[in-house]
This record gives sequence, C-alpha cells and structure tokens, in this order.
Amino acid sequence: MDKFVITGGTDLNGEIATSGSKNSALPALAAALLTDEPVTLRRIPRVRDIRTMERLLVDIGSHFDEDEETVRLHTPNIVSPEAPYELVKTMRASSLVLGPLVARSGRARVSAPGGCAIGSRPINLHIFGLERLGAKINQTHGYIEAEAPDGLKGAEVHFDRITVTGTEDLVMAAVLARGETVIDNAAREPEVVDLCALLSKMGAKIEGAGTSIIRVHGAAKLHGARHMIIPDRIEAGTFLIAGAITRGDVTVTGCEPEHLRALISQLEQAGASVTQPSAGALRVRVLAKLKTVDVTTEEHPGFATDLQAQFMALMTQAEGISIITETIFENRFMHAQELDRMGANIRIDGRRALVAGPIQLSGAQVIASDLRASASLVLAGLAASGETTVDRVYHIDRGYEAIETKLAGAGARIRRVGDKRTSDKQSSDKQSPDKLPSDKQPAANKQPEEASA
Ligand code: EPU
Repeated sequence: MDKFVITGGTDLNGEIATSGSKNSALPALAAALLTDEPVTLRRIPRVRDIRTMERLLVDIGSHFDEDEETVRLHTPNIVSPEAPYELVKTMRASSLVLGPLVARSGRARVSAPGGCAIGSRPINLHIFGLERLGAKINQTHGYIEAEAPDGLKGAEVHFDRITVTGTEDLVMAAVLARGETVIDNAAREPEVVDLCALLSKMGAKIEGAGTSIIRVHGAAKLHGARHMIIPDRIEAGTFLIAGAITRGDVTVTGCEPEHLRALISQLEQAGASVTQPSAGALRVRVLAKLKTVDVTTEEHPGFATDLQAQFMALMTQAEGISIITETIFENRFMHAQELDRMGANIRIDGRRALVAGPIQLSGAQVIASDLRASASLVLAGLAASGETTVDRVYHIDRGYEAIETKLAGAGARIRRVGDKRTSDKQSSDKQSPDKLPSDKQPAANKQPEEASA
C-alpha cells in the first residue's frame, strides 16, 4: 500500500489548481444511463471513485471513451441493470445508478451498502422516494431490487432529512417518470444543481434546483448532451486550509468561490486573509496569530462535513479552544485520535470535538481512516515538525487527484512511497475500463473493502 512521507515545517507558496468535483462527476456519470444517446462530460477528475463508477457503467452496458479529463459515455442498451456487492462495498455512491436504471429499464438490482467508517449511512430515503414514484422494492439477500415495468409516475416526496445522493437519485428517476414530481426538503448542494444543469441539457424539465423544493416534469425520452463538471469545492477548500495551516501564501485557481462561502467566513474569523485576486481564484494568507472558531457542520450552504477534518487540523494551530460539532455523520472524528498521536489536544464528547491549541505538532506515523480524514492528516503533517508518514493513502486517492503533486508544486515536501505491486496497479488504473484485461476486471474489487465517500 502507498504511503505519503511528509517533511513538515515548510510554508506553502504559489498556485494550486482545482480539479473537477468528484461528487458532481459521480451522479453525472450515472445520469448518462438515462439516454441511448452519447453524453460527453468534461473536467472529470482522475480519481479512483470515478474509475469505480466507470467500471460499473461499463458492466451495465455503457460504451466508454476518454481523453484526458473528458469522458464520453454511450449506453444504447441496458445490458445488466445491476450494481453488485463487490463494487458497492468499495464505493457507496454506486447506489446512484438505482434511480436511472429503474427509470430507463424498469428494473434495478443494487447491493445494499452497509455501514462505513463515518457512520451507518442507510439509503432508506432513496428507497422511500422511488416507492413514492411507484417502484416496487424488494430487499432480499443483501440486495435492493426495484421494479417498475409500466414506468414510474410522478409524486410528491417529502424527505424527513436532507440527503445529497438521495435527492440526486430521485431527480434522475423523476426525469423519466410520467407527470410531475415535487421533492420537498431537497438537498441544495452545488453538486445537485450541477446534476440538474446536465439533466436540463439532456431535455429534462426541472425547476428549483438549489432550493429545498425541486419540481421535475417527467419526459418520455432524454437525449445526449455535453457538460462541464463544476470545480471540486472540497478539494479547493482543502488547499485553502493547507495555505492557512502552513502560514503560507496560496492561491487556489479554477475554483468557484460562491461554493466556499462558509469556509471562507470561518477562515476569516480565525484570522486568515482570504481574497479573490481574479474570477475563479482565492488567495489565502495568515498574517497574524490564528484564533479558534467554533464550527458546526451543516447541509449546504452551511459548513461542509467534508471539510470538518481538515478544519480540525487547522484549529490545532489556533489559540484557545475550538468546539467542532459534527451534525451530518455520527462517527466522523476518527482523525482526532491520529492528530492526537501527532501531539494535538482533542477531546471528543459525543458529536462535539474540543480542540485546544496552539500545539506544535510533531511528525509521526499515522493511519488514514477515510478520504477526508486522510486529507486532515496530510495537512497536519505539513505543519508538523519532522517527518510524518500517512499510511493507507488509497483513501485519499479515491477523491483527490494527484494531491501530492499539487501540494509539492506549492513547495510542500511530500512524496509517495509504494511497493511495486501498488505501482503496477496504478499504471493499470490509467487504462480505460473497457480496455482492461479480464484478469484486472473489475479492478475495483481488489480495492480495500471500505466505502466512506
Ligand atoms: N441518510 C439517511 N437515509 C438515507 C440517506 C441519508 O438516514 O437514505 C443520512 C445519512 O446517514 C447521513 C445524512 O443522512 O447521516 C446525510 O447523508 P447524505 O445522503 O446527504 O450523504 P451522501 O449522499 O451519502 C454525499 C457525499 C458525501 C458527503 C455527504 C454530505 C457523494 C458521493 N457523497 O454523501 O461525500 O459527505 O453527501 O454532504 O456525493 C466525501 O466526498 O468524502 C463524502 C463522504
């Protein structure tokens, strides 16, 4: 397994570019199943979760072409409307094919995702929404089987709690349902808005994306489209925190500042200067002592749970006690124990973490437990004295594109060390999924069996 070896204590200076959003690209790829015409998606990030989704779509019946960050998917027929356990256990977002499959082919069989490193994460709301649209759901042998032989029918769906992929799954089902669907208490995340933008280009009629009430007027058929995925706000936010934690001067380019308002506000309250030197760029500097701020994770436009771990690392460098409250997932503090191994002083009290600082972190061997936890350990390593080794880097590879190269470009001393087996695997991952030799298919099966993102 690959590791990162980081020599801390260097401030980051320079520009770091943002890739396309993983959590936007995943539903966009699934949406390509809704039409028998080609869908071309640009700014697809080259991260492992995208590879996993592409492999799943190829198994389902998509033809796949890629060129750098552009992917073209064409699904003339649904060959196998199934997301098998082997894929779902490595990536929960595989359940995003449930809505499109049942809408297009009247049938879907998707493995039920189990719990994961950050919480129990059921998909009962996805199921509830599809049932409201008339799908017959049967849960058996660890699989969710959905059937709608006569098609789906629009309905009013009120979600008891806000779910991002649940909203996306249901919108994708509703675009091919007869009549109108109203989703109440819908997620307002930029990724939902981006999906709706793509679906609209494919001919769907959607109103209210970005608000908590989404109305979908179903169509008999959707057509092909071309779409550019939005920048990854979580990746951009991670780089802003990297600039702040090293007291450097970092400009994150190719991002969407509007999507980062909550983080920018918290960084400013902590004493960082965040400016917008040009459209799509944010510059962060820390010119005075960092102060602690309290943070509570919330659905968008609140503070993103996917930036909580990274912000906790930053708060170890601030003066005072910061209270970080996690409201979205029940078990998303695994990074705290590892940060403590680097000298941090963090106490967990249920859903709250009390972080006392400032602490001179000291390099140590640490283990990543999930995608964003890994990012926080990398950030801590950049600020620590001496050498930090972050083990289980496969977590970070699921959602950050070449993070070590991007950080090194701004002066970070970080390198990847891996054994030969891993390097061979990485080079095989660079091939198109439909060109992989059969003994490498599906390579995602060989990933460690954890699915946090
Ligand atoms: N929930 C239910 N029932 C459901 C669905 C969700 O109880 O049917 C609960 C969850 O257990 C959780 C809360 O509702 O406590 C919110 O979960 P949500 O469904 O919004 O999360 P998700 O759609 O599974 C996406 C992102 C996550 C991100 C969350 C929250 C993707 C592929 N994943 O997950 O991203 O943390 O929204 O913003 O979009 C990551 O990228 O590292 C990552 C974990």
